[in-house]
Amino acid sequence: MIKKGIILAGGMGTRMSPLTKAVNKQLLPLYDKPLIFYPLSILMLSGIKDILIIVNKGQLNQFKKILPEKNSLGINLQYKEQKKPGGLPEAFIIGENFIKKDNIALILGDNFFYGQNLTKKLKDCTKLKHGAKVFLHPVKNAAQYGVAKINKKNKILKIIEKPKKLFSNLAVTGLYFFDNNVVNMSKKLRPSRRKELEITDLLNSYRHRNKLKAEFIGRGGTWLDAGNIDDYYDASNYIGTLENRQGLKIACLEEIALNNKWIGKKEINDSINFYGSCEYSKYLKNLLK
Ligand code: DAU
Repeated sequence: MIKKGIILAGGMGTRMSPLTKAVNKQLLPLYDKPLIFYPLSILMLSGIKDILIIVNKGQLNQFKKILPEKNSLGINLQYKEQKKPGGLPEAFIIGENFIKKDNIALILGDNFFYGQNLTKKLKDCTKLKHGAKVFLHPVKNAAQYGVAKINKKNKILKIIEKPKKLFSNLAVTGLYFFDNNVVNMSKKLRPSRRKELEITDLLNSYRHRNKLKAEFIGRGGTWLDAGNIDDYYDASNYIGTLENRQGLKIACLEEIALNNKWIGKKEINDSINFYGSCEYSKYLKNLLK
C-alpha cells in the first residue's frame, strides 16, 4: 500500500514569468483556488494522508500561510526546500527521510487531473507493492512532454523526454507511483544535457528491469499541465465552467477529507473561520447541511 505522497512544487516558473517572479506558480489561482489544491486533492482522493510538499528555497512561508502543517484537513503535511531546480527525481533524494522504507506517490504541483472513475484508479495504484506505475494520456502536442510508446498489451516500449521526433501521442503525465527502490535509483541518476535529473531516465531504469506499468486516465478524463500560460488559462476556464454548471467544486480539500471521514463538523467550521467570508466558505457551510 502507498500511504505517502510528495508534491513537487518548486521550479522557477520561468515559462510563466513575470507572474511567477514574486509568487510561486503553485500558489497562483486556478479559477477559485490556489493551483496546489488540485494535485493535493489527487493525493487525498488516493487515500494518502502523509504528504511532503517540496518548495523553492525562501518560499516556505508563502505555502504555510495557505496550507499550514497544523491544518484542519486531517492530513499530515510536511515541507522541505529544494535549493535549486535540479530535476524531478530530486524529490526522492530530498524526501528520503520522509519516505523511509515506504513506497511513494509523486505528483507535480502544476498538474490537473479530473474524470469519471479517477478515484477508483488512484486507489488501485496505491496498491502497488513492487515496481512503478505512471499515468499516460493522449495529447495533440505530446512533444513538449515526456512521451511514451506502448504495444497492444499496454506494455511501455519507449519513453523519451521532449523528443525532437514525435513517435506517439501519449504523454507521460506528472503522476507516478514507485516502490522504495526509487530513492536509491534516483541517487544513481546523472544530470542530463539540461543539467537536471530526468524523471524519464528514472522511469526507463524501471522499464529496463521490466518493472514499469502504464495506467490511463481514459478518454473521458482530463489532464492539463498548467505550467504554461495558455494551458493555465484553459485549466482555469475548464474548472470554472464545470463548477458553475454543476454547483460542485473540484478539489475542495475539506469536502474530500469529510468524505474520507478524516474530519468532521468542527474542522469544517475551523476552515470557514480560516478562509473568512467567501464563496469557498459558503460551499463549506453547505457541506454541513
Ligand atoms: O507535466 C508533465 C511533464 O512534467 C512530463 O511529461 C515530463 O516528463 C516531466 O519532465 C515534466 O516536464 P515539465 O517540462 O512540465 O517539467 P517542469 O520543469 O515544468 O516541472 C514540473 C513541476 O515540477 C513544476 O510545477 C515545477 C516542479 N519542479 C520542477 C523541477 C525541474 C520542482 O519543484 N523542482 C524541479 O527541480
